[in-house]
Amino acid sequence: MHPLVGRRQELAALTRGLDDAVSGRGNLWFVCGEPGIGKSRLLEEMAAAASDRDMHVFWARCWSSSRAPALWPWIQVLRGVLRAEDRELVAEFVGQRGGALQRVLPELAGDGGRAAEPAGEAAAEFELFDAVAGLLTEVGERRPVLVLLEDLHVADLTSARLLEFLAGPIRGARVAVAGMYRNLEAEASDAGPVLLPLAREVRPIHLTRLTRGAVSDFLRHASASPVSAPLLDAVFAATRGNPLFMCEAARVIAEAQSASARGVDVETVAGAVRERVAELNGRPADEQSPKRAATSSDELRLERDGEYWLVARGPVRFRLSDTKGVRLLARLIAEPDREFHALDLAAEGRGLDCGGSTTTGPILDDDARDQYRQRVVSLKAELVEAETWNDPARAERARTELEFVTQQLKGAIGLGGRGRQGTSASERARVSVQRRIRDAIRRIEQQDADLGRQLVRAVRTGTYCSYSP
Ligand SMILES: Nc1ncnc2c1ncn2[C@@H]1O[C@H](COP(=O)(O)OP(=O)(O)OP(=O)(O)O)[C@@H](O)[C@H]1O
Ligand SMILES: [Mg+2]
Repeated sequence: MHPLVGRRQELAALTRGLDDAVSGRGNLWFVCGEPGIGKSRLLEEMAAAASDRDMHVFWARCWSSSRAPALWPWIQVLRGVLRAEDRELVAEFVGQRGGALQRVLPELAGDGGRAAEPAGEAAAEFELFDAVAGLLTEVGERRPVLVLLEDLHVADLTSARLLEFLAGPIRGARVAVAGMYRNLEAEASDAGPVLLPLAREVRPIHLTRLTRGAVSDFLRHASASPVSAPLLDAVFAATRGNPLFMCEAARVIAEAQSASARGVDVETVAGAVRERVAELNGRPADEQSPKRAATSSDELRLERDGEYWLVARGPVRFRLSDTKGVRLLARLIAEPDREFHALDLAAEGRGLDCGGSTTTGPILDDDARDQYRQRVVSLKAELVEAETWNDPARAERARTELEFVTQQLKGAIGLGGRGRQGTSASERARVSVQRRIRDAIRRIEQQDADLGRQLVRAVRTGTYCSYSP
């Protein structure tokens, strides 16, 4: 394993959390980011720091299979407790107040203390959650506990609810809990509706790509002989600072170095790295090579031109008037694959009035709601017309937009037809940024349908936004 580079601040925050937990001020952490960015690695480092403090470490990993039982990560944690702790202590706990645990851990059946049948599902859930919190607290009193939950983006909803429940009782216990998830996947996941608001509350540690300096440190440790500046640049461009890709790059460089005593050829090695990165991404190298992106004429560009923006891709060139949406889109396009938090984007787009404030307000203002309603009427008409004229592409576009606008209205209005209050600044930023970016894409689509469709596919909007051509 390569020595850890960068991440000093993140690890320091997590280890401070461990010290707090040891002193009886338990806490909850989330680490999130794109695949391969180093979430598991950071938790491994946290686990090592916890062992240094003589803490218990209970590690669980969520499993995406539908064959995994509900509460699978917590079953793993509880089994860890059974293995590590004095069996008598657990039996005593189960006998006195932990009978509900037997419902998820049949191996505890012999430990007496059957829980009375609960009055309904909610009561059963509460009893179980309370028993898990009680057991972890009790174990923590003897020896502080760290619970690590990996891949929460594939957790079941009940597991996320248990995590949400625990956030309260652990505050006064010698228990730290850290969970990690891939943020884009989490948004569409079963656990997302509970996990993401909870994570926002405790402010997740969002791992970003490593800087050029960190990549340089990484290669210095990973290579037998020094890596030249041009090679470093090429590796940085190909891996974009993603540690998983950097590990592959280190392997390619090591192979090239051992094959040739006379030094490595930068272009050959850079090409091999790009290929490995592409394989890991499941895409052909020539579809995503940054080198090609940097030189290719079919790369999409959005450039400020006075009051306007020049949109250019290959032979297509047109101008758009400046709007906040176009500015946001230009920001995403300037850094392909980078995930931007909607709050950061909102803050960058000066005067966007959709983030930064902690006050809550209606998710959509009245004007926006009326505009959306009018848009629904005209889109329905457009859909009928497109179907009448047998124009499937236009119908599909109308349907997609109709779906989006309807979702926005549903989210904003709630069942009673009254404006629902936004839950946080982040939620407002998400909605506002999403609306503005989609407006910009719609305007591009009016100029060039192909480009518009490509953008619909490549641009993701949500709590995190990105452009991945
Ligand atoms: N800061 C770092 N310094 C050195 N190596 C790192 C660093 N971060 C991650 N790595 C290494 O990069 C590889 C990928 O990291 P890791 O498995 O932690 O990613 P992940 O975010 O958990 O990905 P996934 O979402 O796929 O689970 C691992 O081999 C890990 O040891
Ligand atoms: Mg991982």
